[in-house]
Amino acid sequence: MSCAPEHCEQVAEGGDAALFADAIRRMLRRIDVTAAAIGTQFPLSADPVGGVWMTAPDGRWTGGFWVGQLWLALQATADSKYRALAEAALARLEVRLARDNVLNGLVFYYGAALGAQLDRNSLGASLGRRGAAALAARFVQGSGFIPLGHDSGSLTGDANGETNIDGVPGMGLLWWAAREGGDPRLAEVARKHVRRHIELCQRPDGSLYQAALVDPDNGATLRLYSPRGFAADTSTWARAQSWGLMGFVQAYAWTQDRFFFDAAVRAADWWIAKAPADGVAFWDFDDPAIPATERDTSATAMTACALLKLARLARDAAQADKYAQAGAQIVRALVGNYLVPTHPGDPRPRGMLTEGCWQRNQGMSTCHELVWGDYYLLEALLLLTGRLARLL
Ligand code: GLY
Repeated sequence: MSCAPEHCEQVAEGGDAALFADAIRRMLRRIDVTAAAIGTQFPLSADPVGGVWMTAPDGRWTGGFWVGQLWLALQATADSKYRALAEAALARLEVRLARDNVLNGLVFYYGAALGAQLDRNSLGASLGRRGAAALAARFVQGSGFIPLGHDSGSLTGDANGETNIDGVPGMGLLWWAAREGGDPRLAEVARKHVRRHIELCQRPDGSLYQAALVDPDNGATLRLYSPRGFAADTSTWARAQSWGLMGFVQAYAWTQDRFFFDAAVRAADWWIAKAPADGVAFWDFDDPAIPATERDTSATAMTACALLKLARLARDAAQADKYAQAGAQIVRALVGNYLVPTHPGDPRPRGMLTEGCWQRNQGMSTCHELVWGDYYLLEALLLLTGRLARLL
């Protein structure tokens, strides 16, 4: 990926360096404790009191984020125990290859392609290539995207015409596979998928709908909405904004197509303008109960990570500085106020990123540690401390 050299030196110094290094230590400790606790399961969300993980044997759509954390831990420490853990967990994700679910892009990008990129890992490369081929084969010409899929928990039942922006960062899998000698059509599918989401889901002010329903025969837009948000037709669910932002930044990094950069800037600027003063977003920007409602640290960590990447891809120094400062400020807030221990005598397991909100409308894991929140905070911390030179 490209990185303008003049924008690459954004490594934390002074107090920040010590704060972030300590946060990495805490998160690595949490990874060790989690690995010992889960056996052959995958961690999904952990309860806010004792940090006990809810798990699943196939990781659901989140499995890649656990394996991705292990690849990041290997990168941070060079301790080969993380490679062994990552390979064992990744092998258990193979069962997902046949699933009709656009979120398999996340599973195999973060679970497999990261291993290939960071560790030249052959299992990562092979499952990444297979995951990419299976995902791209699900592209629907009429819709102009890879639909949500029948395995994805579609809320409308019309899985072929329905899409969620949640799957956009999974397109990194297709760009990576194309670069690694795969079919160039993989990159074309990724480009079309992301472009279509910008056209469908991004409002003129830069905010994002989570979902779109189109007629799969001709692509006509039937509905734009946010099924996981506070008000399906109008509000901005925090994770819609963060998935979109992350996906647009990633698309630009792989393609250098200005269309993606501009969409990322609109999404980033909207977030920066609307986020609470303390930097940590509530689960939906339009919940009228704010501030007496849940935060979503997972969306916030993802946004911080995306902003730090956008800073490295920025077109001038002022823009780079703006996004680097915004990303670092969010990480400081998360590490200072949400990463255990958050207060003296905090009895909870060290290194938990607390107060992620998975599915507020269903009352599921609404103030919990979430495995993808952990992943993105750790990636952001490695970027900030110079332990991760490349943009993933
Ligand atoms: N479906 C992905 C998410 O809940 O963010």
